[in-house]
Amino acid sequence: MALEDKTGPHLPSHVAIIMDGNGRWARKRLLPREAGHYAGMGAVRETVRAACDIGLQNLTLFAFSSENWKRPKTEVGALMGLFRAYFRSDMDELVDRNIRMRIIGHRGRVANDIQQMIEESEKRTINNTGMNLTFAFDYGGQEEIVAATRELARAAADGRLDPETITPELFASRLFTSALPSPDLVIRTSGEHRLSNFLLWQSAYAELLFLDTLWPDFDRAALESALAQFGGRERRFGALDSEAVA
Ligand code: IPE
Ligand code: IPE
Ligand code: MG
Repeated sequence: MALEDKTGPHLPSHVAIIMDGNGRWARKRLLPREAGHYAGMGAVRETVRAACDIGLQNLTLFAFSSENWKRPKTEVGALMGLFRAYFRSDMDELVDRNIRMRIIGHRGRVANDIQQMIEESEKRTINNTGMNLTFAFDYGGQEEIVAATRELARAAADGRLDPETITPELFASRLFTSALPSPDLVIRTSGEHRLSNFLLWQSAYAELLFLDTLWPDFDRAALESALAQFGGRERRFGALDSEAVA
């Protein structure tokens, strides 16, 4: 009940989070950047638990961008290691919580054992009916849009598709997120005010919330506060608000 008071009736159906600020969190403590990523994994765990308890239907977390390959090899290696560690340590709990896992992104560029883990986790949770938990991993929004365009162009060139039948809905059905509703709320931590190539198509009408909190400090209370802020927003989707119409 307390939560309902805080969030009001407008719980978003899909929250997507750009988990940023691990490096700065570590630097503030004179620790290596990898320590920030490790602490960030704790915040992932807490956020997933909280989202599940709150009854959120869809949570998508940006874990590694297609541009993050530009980072030093050691940092990329540490991030890949943490991804592996997360799957090993948390999969059982995610299954127990009836969570359905999806990983969106390129896939072909990550190590074979990670590709296998991704496939196994998706297979293992395919019949789960609780929260959809999606990790964007080696994900880039422009790359995703180009891949969908290429697929449609190929179908048109082969005569299997009439270009006139391409609608926003058809296009969206070719994206990684075809099974998910559009995000209602996109949160970015760490004080940066940009999307960094995250869910570009899908966020067309998302409410954006930029928080100064560094990702490792994000927790249940931060999520509840974000949901409460979302509850206070008026969404118009290009139309007029109810008062203007009345
Ligand atoms: C987010 O934290 C994690 C990833 C991008 C993988 P950063 O590593 O970007 O942290 P900052 O932005 O340097 O503080
Ligand atoms: C975005 O953060 C990617 C993730 C959170 C995974 P970055 O730290 O890579 O973004 P930029 O480089 O500051 O835009
Ligand atoms: Mg960053």
